[in-house]
Amino acid sequence: MTEHERGELIILPDQVALAEEAARRFVALAQAAIADHGRFTVALSGGSTPRALYARLAQSPLNEAVDWANVLVFWGDERMVPPDDIESSYRMARETLLAQVGIPAANIYPVPTIGGTPEAAASAYEETLTAAFGTDAPRFDLILLGIGPDGHTASLFPGQPEVVRPSAALAVAVHNAPKPPPTRVTFTYTLINEAANVLFVVSGADKARALHSILRGEIDVARLPAQGVRPKQGSLVWLVDAEVARLLA
Ligand code: 6PG
Repeated sequence: MTEHERGELIILPDQVALAEEAARRFVALAQAAIADHGRFTVALSGGSTPRALYARLAQSPLNEAVDWANVLVFWGDERMVPPDDIESSYRMARETLLAQVGIPAANIYPVPTIGGTPEAAASAYEETLTAAFGTDAPRFDLILLGIGPDGHTASLFPGQPEVVRPSAALAVAVHNAPKPPPTRVTFTYTLINEAANVLFVVSGADKARALHSILRGEIDVARLPAQGVRPKQGSLVWLVDAEVARLLA
């Protein structure tokens, strides 16, 4: 794989600048997608890193720069907890962003995490995706992703079945995730790599080694799942802060 295929690397001085640049890109992509095809489809990421991005997007003037009525929001992965649980990625996005910007409830597509198995949730989410996009091969305008210190992204964890033998499914159940909570639903590479734009947003000194291995090390997707993200016909951008980039020459 060439450096180019690993994506464009943009290093920001600190976490504030990182959130600002990520928010600026979100708005620009939303405006371009809505101008081009009438709507903006985005998959949000979980974890704590995007919190500052969502809060920034909820503030003026960026919140007014997006036509939220034409934004459709999904999650690239979700923890199998109720939507009001403190661990819910849906809840975090709702509190920091969605409840602030007046997006219609019908435009929000949380993973159905209650009342069934993660397998049932994954297959229901797949149906939701194909219905919303009107195709079996949904192409997101933007998929936001983070990474963990072990090289995972979304809920694609090292050594797990979907990473070792990627499936043609769009979303799958995850058990025994090393990052709690252990039971999850995640987008697959099949879905992620159809996206028009994938944006990794990464900060934190504890991820410096993982980031270096993902971007500069040997390709080993089973060990470093974030390396499996390679949009077939889309852009791949890594927005990182200086702290996490400290091992990159
Ligand atoms: C999750 C995410 C996971 C996350 C990264 C980064 O459920 O936490 O799906 O992939 O994006 O682990 O998380 P932090 O920002 O909390 O480090």
